[in-house]
Amino acid sequence: MSVASPFARNVLAEQLVGNDVCLARREGSPAPAINFDHAATTPPLRAVHRAVERFLAIYGSVHRGAGLKSQAASAAYEEARGIVGRFVGARPGQHQVIFTRNTTEALNLLARRLTFAPDQVVITTELEHHANDLPWRAVAPVVHVRSTATGALDVEHYAALLQQYSGRVRLVAVTGASNVTGYMPPIHELAVLAHAHGAAIVVDAAQLAAHRRIDLGDLGDPAHLDYIAISGHKLYAPYGAGALIGRSDAFALGAPMLVGGGSVRRVTSRLVDWADGPARDEAGTPNAVGAIALAAACLALEELGLDWLAAHETALTCYALEQLARVPDLWLYGDPDPAQAATRLGVIPFCLDKRDPHLVAAMLSYEAGIAVRSGSFCAQPYVRRLLARDETGCDVGQLGLVRASFGLATSKHEIDTLVATLHAIARGDFDGLYAYDRENKGYQPHDWNQQNSFSIFERAAPLAA
Ligand code: ALA
Repeated sequence: MSVASPFARNVLAEQLVGNDVCLARREGSPAPAINFDHAATTPPLRAVHRAVERFLAIYGSVHRGAGLKSQAASAAYEEARGIVGRFVGARPGQHQVIFTRNTTEALNLLARRLTFAPDQVVITTELEHHANDLPWRAVAPVVHVRSTATGALDVEHYAALLQQYSGRVRLVAVTGASNVTGYMPPIHELAVLAHAHGAAIVVDAAQLAAHRRIDLGDLGDPAHLDYIAISGHKLYAPYGAGALIGRSDAFALGAPMLVGGGSVRRVTSRLVDWADGPARDEAGTPNAVGAIALAAACLALEELGLDWLAAHETALTCYALEQLARVPDLWLYGDPDPAQAATRLGVIPFCLDKRDPHLVAAMLSYEAGIAVRSGSFCAQPYVRRLLARDETGCDVGQLGLVRASFGLATSKHEIDTLVATLHAIARGDFDGLYAYDRENKGYQPHDWNQQNSFSIFERAAPLAA
């Protein structure tokens, strides 16, 4: 597929389920929701939805039945495994794909499957989502690489920590792209240094995978990545599956995190022989629908062209940074330089004067139907660091930031609507109209009486008496 210019009519929006659903706002007629919350989760691609429908027609017990549907479903599940592996450059014979619920489960699984000597440490970073920090704290001493004032990784500090703990670093755990600032650490450079010190490296690719091409690399290449974790719901496949993809040798021995049916070869009343391959780490009937969806999303993104999508997002990010900088009293966090847009994702954190970020988020939603996230984005140490370094006029004690994050269907028109609404908020157009609503734990217009209620479930008519 090709689109002439990054700002051409947004044909990409038509690739998504639900892009045309209209929602009520505080004033005016219902309008299509504007999604600037892709860093949290992404809507399904139509291609994913179609693949799921096709799969449901042959749905049967995966790896647990002799029936024809069971065989067809099992074959599709294994085909999905191959597609997901190829999407991230997994090498046959070197890597394996383990389906999980999401990135969080994938990283917890890895933490439980690696073995740590008593003196070994994990090096992670201040930039991480809690999912790439807390699992390591549960299994080993953890040291954190500092971030710089603009939220970049302090690579000199990383090198110094590797030196300080040389010979004792079991693993380096780093994000592929920050879910707060969109910053992308130089993961392959970090890998070279980690391997030189005898450490393995895992990349939390939850944010990265839908936006940039990933290549695990050959295990013989010092720049290779040992493990990566991804989530379907951030890859336009919100059907409850993610994956841990990594070197097969790490999973060949030892007991799995989750034990039960499917993970075993032989069980007696006294011993258990664990299964070989990914089955060992996939106890219980798998979420085959989620795996099919994830694979279909990988194929669809490849077809759209990840390099084209990256260039498209860079142009939009550059434009958004230029326009946001013109909003009075709006402070950008992370790297605010439009010229550097290619080095980060379209994930833009900001605050507006001394306004509560949750109030700004509510105003964007109720006034213009714009979805953003506010708060600390499951990355409290990083957000605290960004705010503590603040010399811009925002309160250091402020609880969080507002985050606008782009997806493949984000358009220039949507950015213009975001920026125009922020100008209106900065002017005070909506002041006095909003109050904190204790019951809903958020801000609401005090005159809000419209409902965006849908009946998702089909209910049979009550039986006649
Ligand atoms: N980790 C997701 C986010 O950044 C949920 O919003």
